[in-house]
Amino acid sequence: MKFGVFLPNGSNGYIPSEGSPVYQPTFEHNKAISLEAEAQGLDFVLSMMKYRGFGGSTGYWDSCLESFTLMAGLASVTERIGLFPSISLLSQHPAVVARMIATLDDISSGRCGLNIVTGWNRAEYLQMDMWPGDSHYERRYDYASEYLTILKTLWETGRCSHKGEFFSLDDCTVYPQPSGDIPIVCAGQSPRGRQFVAESADHQFVLTGKSNLIGGVKDIQSRAAKYNRNVGIYALYHMIIEDTDEKAKGVAEDIVRKADTGAIRNILASASLDTNEGGSSDQLQSALDQSIEEGNMAFMGIPVIVGSPATIAKQIMSLRDDSGIEGMLFSWPDFVEGVRRFGEEVMPLID
Ligand SMILES: Cc1cc2nc3c(=O)[nH]c(=O)nc-3n(C[C@H](O)[C@H](O)[C@H](O)COP(=O)(O)O)c2cc1C
Repeated sequence: MKFGVFLPNGSNGYIPSEGSPVYQPTFEHNKAISLEAEAQGLDFVLSMMKYRGFGGSTGYWDSCLESFTLMAGLASVTERIGLFPSISLLSQHPAVVARMIATLDDISSGRCGLNIVTGWNRAEYLQMDMWPGDSHYERRYDYASEYLTILKTLWETGRCSHKGEFFSLDDCTVYPQPSGDIPIVCAGQSPRGRQFVAESADHQFVLTGKSNLIGGVKDIQSRAAKYNRNVGIYALYHMIIEDTDEKAKGVAEDIVRKADTGAIRNILASASLDTNEGGSSDQLQSALDQSIEEGNMAFMGIPVIVGSPATIAKQIMSLRDDSGIEGMLFSWPDFVEGVRRFGEEVMPLID
C-alpha cells in the first residue's frame, strides 16, 4: 500500500477549527514534514493551490504558498519521495505548465507528477480577471481534457500544433522533455470529474467515508475498463493518533466543537455556485451533518481515522481490504508529529 502527505501549504492545513493548530504556511514547515515523510518511508507529498482563502476566525487558507515553487524547493532538499504540485488550470497556459513540470522533473531526477484541478471556486479567478464565465462550472472537465491532451503531446514529442475549443497552439515547442512519464492525478468526484479520471488520469483521490468508498472505487474501475485503462485509487483521510482511542476521540470532538463557522459559511457560499452535478457543492453541503468518521465540515468534509496506533492500523487495513484502494493520502492536526507517529507506530502494524 502506498502512503502520501497532503502538505499544509495553505494556512491551518485542512481543518477550519480553533480546536486544531492555527498557523501560517512556511517552507520550513513543509520541508520538515517532507523530510520526516521521506525518513519514515512514505511514498509522496502533494501540495494544493488556493488563490483566495475563506477568512473566518482562523483566516482559513488566507495564505497559500505557490504549489510549483514550493515543490521545486522540496525537490532540492529531498532524495527519494514523490512530489505532486497542483495546477489550477485556469491560472496557467498548458505550455507554461509543461515546461514547469519538465523543470521540476529535472530538479527531482524524475520524481514529480501533477494534480489536475479544474477550479470550483469562482472568486479565486474572478479577482485576477481569469474566470471565463459561469459556463466553466459545467465545462471544466472538457477544458481539462483539452489541456491534458496538450500537456501530454508536449511531454511526449516536445512540440504541439493544436486548434481546439479552448486553446490554439502553432508549432509550440517545449524542451527539455521530462525524463519519463509524468503520473497524472485528479480528485474529480462528480460524475463528469470521474469520467475525466477514467479517461485520462493515472490516479484518483477520493474524498468520502467508507460507506461510499467501496462503490466509488467500483465506479472508477468500471469506467476506466471501457478504455482498457487502470486507475489507482487513493482515499484522503485525516488521522488523529493518540495513546488511547478515548483520548483521540476527545481531540476530534473538540475540533468539531470549535469549528470556524465563519470560514465554513464562506466555503459553502462559494461552493454553492458550482452547478456541476454531484460535485463540490453537494459534497460540502452534506458534510455539515456528517459524522467525524464520514467527514464533518470541521474537517472540510474529509473523513477522519481516530484512535490509538493499533486501532488506526486496523482501520487502514479494513479500508484497503474492503474497497481495493491502492493507497491513502493523509492530513494531521500536527503534521510533523503525525507523520512521525504514523511511520514509527502505525506502519509497522500494517501487513
Ligand atoms: C487530494 C485533493 C487535492 C485537491 N487539490 C485541490 C487544489 O489544489 N485546488 C482546488 O481548488 N481544489 C482541489 N481539490 C478539489 C478537487 O480538484 C475537486 O474539484 C473536488 O474534489 C470536487 O470534485 P469535482 O471537481 O468533480 O466537483 C482537491 C481535492 C482533493 C481530494
